[in-house]
Amino acid sequence: MQKQILAFKLIRYGAGMKIRSFLNIKSSKHIFENYYNIINQFSGLGSDEFACMNYGIATDKKIELNPEDEAERYPLQLYDYVATGAGTVSLTGLDVLEVGSGRGGGASYIARYIKPKNITGMDLSRTATQFCINHYKNVDNLSFINGDAEAIPFPDSSLDAVVNVESSHCYPDFENFVAEVKRVLKPGGYFLFTDFRNASETDIFHNTFEKTGFRQLYEQDISSRVVDSLTEDTKRRLDLINKINLPWFIKFPMKDFAGCANSITYNAYATGRRRYMYFILQKPG
Ligand SMILES: C[S@@+](CC[C@H](N)C(=O)[O-])C[C@H]1O[C@@H](n2cnc3c(N)ncnc32)[C@H](O)[C@@H]1O
Repeated sequence: MQKQILAFKLIRYGAGMKIRSFLNIKSSKHIFENYYNIINQFSGLGSDEFACMNYGIATDKKIELNPEDEAERYPLQLYDYVATGAGTVSLTGLDVLEVGSGRGGGASYIARYIKPKNITGMDLSRTATQFCINHYKNVDNLSFINGDAEAIPFPDSSLDAVVNVESSHCYPDFENFVAEVKRVLKPGGYFLFTDFRNASETDIFHNTFEKTGFRQLYEQDISSRVVDSLTEDTKRRLDLINKINLPWFIKFPMKDFAGCANSITYNAYATGRRRYMYFILQKPG
């Protein structure tokens, strides 16, 4: 098993290096930007079957969903859990930004079900942003822009809440990002945040939130709920990977990337090597 894992890692590293030199990628930010550009450009899938790119959460109480949203129940449940502050925060009627909105499924869920005054989804990937602009035209309180989490294109103290779901692990400087979120939030504004790190690296969350002056209202390790989500959602994820229209060197590591049951990623959460954390933070008033 150890040998298989090592061989897999070597192939993945080799493929990564090839893609990197082929695309003339200069920094880790470019790697993620190009990776997501490729996924969005060539997947050939619409927002009806592939609108979310997170690992999801299994919750005690299932949220109510329209039939057209049912396929992505677990990733949408994560959005609901994060955006409602696990039932303690209401974004209804507020000005909201999602940083790292991907293919827009989460921002669209918040716009339609939670009804903020406005929600803007922002993503570094140009193809993700274009996909969203094309696919969510009919949702009035929802818009999308291209932008970088470390240079958020909003004025100081202009937003009531910032949502960030499974995206910050891509940012080269996490502290820059958190400082930017604090800058654009109004006093008293909420930062609703969830992401993963290796277990030995989760201190970065507490240290950065403290250093940037956020008030931490709530913290939860949701790893076991994420594992339950991935277990339940594996068949759908495998079906999507089979359908996706991408070259083999991108498709090959996708089972792991998608967190399918018994993949390296899945086992990292199941064994506690990687932890998926949720925080509710507030800019002091
Ligand atoms: C795993 S996906 C999650 C997308 C979405 N939050 C969801 O749950 O479906 C991570 C997203 O972060 C975006 N991203 C990576 N680096 C970024 C940056 N510096 N600024 C903004 N978005 C970024 C990627 O383009 C990608 O769409």
